[in-house]
Amino acid sequence: MKKKRPVSRRRRARRGGPTRSMLAAMTALAREARERAHAPYSRFRVGAALKTRTGEIVTGGNIENASYGLSMCAERVAVFKAVSEGLDDFDVITVVADSKKITPPCGPCRQILWEYCGDVLVHMTDLRGRSRTMRLRELLPMPFDAGHL
Ligand code: THU
Repeated sequence: MKKKRPVSRRRRARRGGPTRSMLAAMTALAREARERAHAPYSRFRVGAALKTRTGEIVTGGNIENASYGLSMCAERVAVFKAVSEGLDDFDVITVVADSKKITPPCGPCRQILWEYCGDVLVHMTDLRGRSRTMRLRELLPMPFDAGHL
């Protein structure tokens, strides 16, 4: 099979997407946020970093509660922190977890991401440095939103 050539920095910038170094910087911040996660029940720590098109980055880690259903995923913590600070126009979110398979955002997080971030780029990574990048639209192909009300 033909090996896919990595997209060059110039090409990525021309396309308007994040550079590899931007994704690496966001992933490092998401890892730090993961360290601060409060996950004593599942012990599954997740970190996220959400970026605006103008370059502000807001992080989040999952926050669990003894009443398990009240727990909040890292992605939603990052989105709610950012929105409550008045930020908008998001273009990328990175997610870091330690699992055999790359961890994607859960269903409720996809819905929340669609509402506040639209068709954001979702960069999913693990601690070994493996990654997968998808558009939210691929993860949530037929989203429900205000357009249906
Ligand atoms: N979790 C996240 O924070 N993000 C994900 O993408 C998947 C799941 C959290 C929720 C819960 O605290 C723990 O991981 C186990 O499900």
